[in-house]
Amino acid sequence: MVTAYDCTFAQLIDRANVDVLLVGDSLGMVVQGEHSTLPVTIDEMAYHTRLVARARTSALVLGDLPFLSYQTSRRDALENAGRLIKAGAEAVKLEGGRSQAATIRALVRADIPVVAHIGLTPQSVHRMGGHKVQGRDAAGRERLLDDARAVADAGAFAVVLEGVPLELGREITEMLDIPTIGIGAGPFCDGQVLVMHDLLGLATEDRKMPRFVRRYAGLGAQVTAAVESFADDVRGGVFPSDAESYHAPALAGAAPQPCETPSHLRTIDSVTGMRAWADRQRALGLRIAFVPTMGFLHEGHLSLVREARSRGDRVVVSIFVNPIQFDREEDLVAYPRELERDRRLLEGEGVDVLFTPGAREMYPDEFVSGVNVDRLTDQLCGAHRPGHFRGVTTVVAKLFHAVQPHVAVFGQKDFQQLAVIQRMTRDLDFGIEIVPGETVREADGLAMSSRNARLGAQGRLAARCVPAAIDAARLAVARGARAAEEVADALARVIATEPRARLEYAALCDPSSLEPVARVDQPTQIAVAVWVDGVRLIDNVLIDPSETSPVRLARHESHPVASHSASDVPSGGELLLAARD
Ligand code: KIV
Repeated sequence: MVTAYDCTFAQLIDRANVDVLLVGDSLGMVVQGEHSTLPVTIDEMAYHTRLVARARTSALVLGDLPFLSYQTSRRDALENAGRLIKAGAEAVKLEGGRSQAATIRALVRADIPVVAHIGLTPQSVHRMGGHKVQGRDAAGRERLLDDARAVADAGAFAVVLEGVPLELGREITEMLDIPTIGIGAGPFCDGQVLVMHDLLGLATEDRKMPRFVRRYAGLGAQVTAAVESFADDVRGGVFPSDAESYHAPALAGAAPQPCETPSHLRTIDSVTGMRAWADRQRALGLRIAFVPTMGFLHEGHLSLVREARSRGDRVVVSIFVNPIQFDREEDLVAYPRELERDRRLLEGEGVDVLFTPGAREMYPDEFVSGVNVDRLTDQLCGAHRPGHFRGVTTVVAKLFHAVQPHVAVFGQKDFQQLAVIQRMTRDLDFGIEIVPGETVREADGLAMSSRNARLGAQGRLAARCVPAAIDAARLAVARGARAAEEVADALARVIATEPRARLEYAALCDPSSLEPVARVDQPTQIAVAVWVDGVRLIDNVLIDPSETSPVRLARHESHPVASHSASDVPSGGELLLAARD
């Protein structure tokens, strides 16, 4: 049994398959804001009973007779119970034991089914000296046993036991032939009842809950968070958006009226603002998906955003050029920035929040902390960029704390970064799902990167050696090479043919520990870093020697570079992140 006071909630509760919907006079407290049930009138009970009955529930609708609607005379009891029945109740409930036995009898004789309510009877709050547990001493116990017998003998078809010790609840339940329904009467009753507002956590936070209440939801906090979000959107000018507005048809002969509608995309630049927004989404039970970037977005980033969109109810993208992950000052200064263009691209992807903290916001004065992921950061890029990964893990940890995502998407292009973030998230119990996003490539196979924009025309042509070198390594494996040195040599030879390119490293390693391997007997990550005209480019591929297909390789042999397409290039890694270069 659960209480209900209106049609909407009655429908929702009825769908949950409860047996009885009680239109309780608790209405006074949870709906009307009174301190007790005493002010509730029969007119109000009849009104709310009608609302609940309109839900056309499959549950039995039970109407509560309020204070002084049945205690005054049997005639009043019949008349008022009749009003609830006419309003749609199928039975009525009244408080009192032996003292109400004659009234129960009269109602039952008039074919009005009755549920009795004994123990802590809220309408007797003044006689009891407050809402106090009843039947704790011997005399009280005897009285309640007698009340229970009396209401059952009078013809009540069930009895609500409120605020009695569980031992007594059990004794009465075992003694009676009719079902007992407990509220604060222990687990041995035949059924249980709770006030809907208590069960759903709808009551305002500061109300002290009796110990028998178990909250199954926190809808009160959710309601506040939802309305706060609405008010925020209105004040921030992001609601309603174009999609949420109507347009007038163009009038014949009239010049079109340009009309800028607000963007759906909200920009937040403070950590506290970001956290407050994230807190509200979480309170609403919404799933936050996050894509951290350094901006200057390209198709690779947007594919990660789409991945995030498919995995969350709300998408946050951060743009923060993280100074502490740059090992060379000139790279930080030269890093391309185009915030307005990025904002338009993200709007087009339906992103909800663009988080753009400034460097001071992320690293206030005297910032001295950092996150280290050992071992995994000693190899590959980590060996050539001292301090880089500490910068990445530190900023990602901070962004995670601000955005509080359920899921975050990182490009596979920067597979070392992906592996390091996965390890950090696991080791430090962030509880965030890290999703790898496929590498997106240009038509000639070059992995997309914000850094590609720094290449001149000649450099851009020369950069084709990077995917070509990866292909050469793959081809070598397909032809049977298993020694890591031999595969790395095949890769290095391609880079050596390009005069504008300088190989920084070519490595074969275990995909999860990133430890170098001597042979390609297991799935192996092949990774490369190459400088082309002073721009550092990276790429990688995961090779499973047991799956290398001669057919695919033939294709690669005839068109080593230009044949690349999204479908035939194995996912290497669009790294994006933060430092995604
Ligand atoms: O009014 C009410 O909600 C009740 C329940 C607490 C049993 O009587």
